[in-house]
Amino acid sequence: MTRHLLKLSDLSPAEARRIVERGTELKSRREDHQYRPLLGRSLAMLFAKSSTRTRVSFEVGMARLGGHALMLATAQTQLGREEPLADTARVLSRMCDAIMVRNDSQADQEELARCSRVPVINGLSELHHPCQLLADVQTWFEHRGDPKGKIAAWLGDGNNVCNSWIEAARLFGFHLRVASPHQYRPEPAVLEFAGKSVSLLDDPGAAAAGADLLVTDTWTSMGREAERAERMQVLAPFQVDARMMATAGPDAVFMHCLPAHRGEEVTAEVIDGPQSVVWDEAENRLWAQMALLEFLLT
Ligand code: CP
Ligand code: NVA
Repeated sequence: MTRHLLKLSDLSPAEARRIVERGTELKSRREDHQYRPLLGRSLAMLFAKSSTRTRVSFEVGMARLGGHALMLATAQTQLGREEPLADTARVLSRMCDAIMVRNDSQADQEELARCSRVPVINGLSELHHPCQLLADVQTWFEHRGDPKGKIAAWLGDGNNVCNSWIEAARLFGFHLRVASPHQYRPEPAVLEFAGKSVSLLDDPGAAAAGADLLVTDTWTSMGREAERAERMQVLAPFQVDARMMATAGPDAVFMHCLPAHRGEEVTAEVIDGPQSVVWDEAENRLWAQMALLEFLLT
């Protein structure tokens, strides 16, 4: 059966853990350019939205594994001239060995997967960002050991990345406190999946208190630009600043999937400060996704 990664919970806890550990192993062998398990294999990358990290990490990752990645900006493909997604999936999956897709529709990604003979990977949708969480958990492991039993706090918009953090809590056995305004709460089905692994709070200070990790993301995700002014106002109390970091304690780490907006969801002092691990987190997109490609394709 063809495996896909449309959301983090498509993996079992053991599989997710294995991929994250393998990411660290591949990273420790970064000078090994002879390991080419994906020689001759191709990844089609369908992007309906902007990207720096996702595009570069998949393209470089495929190259490092001996394969090849094709950048397909959807507007420049026949999808932009209304060729059905299902037909596109059928065609791509006859020529390529995997498909990565970034768009604004989890439902469309599911349809793509249904019509594809090869693995489909969600490179971000309006609901999930599973690849980000493989990298984030890898980063947490590398800095502080096994996250099992630890506490993370998500502060701000209950968005796609937040939903994947919630799934990660259940899969990796940590607890996630989510502090967000009522109108920007995470997806109910994802909360249901996580059960007791997640708690919702109104007060960002209470969420941060004593946490092992603080994490946030932009207040205005791609496609939400029209709501920007309102979001800036409603989300202002959830900014991660030095005081919030101090509430968490000196051993807490700060994460952000990037791109960041200094002075909005996080202050420069925090993201550029000693507790921030955002550059390792960004780098780990490469290693975690290499481990994922290896898992799905070999
Ligand atoms: N974090 C992340 O997915 O970054 P990009 O939008 O640059 O791919
Ligand atoms: N929540 C952000 C993540 C970007 C990587 C967005 O969807 O734009």
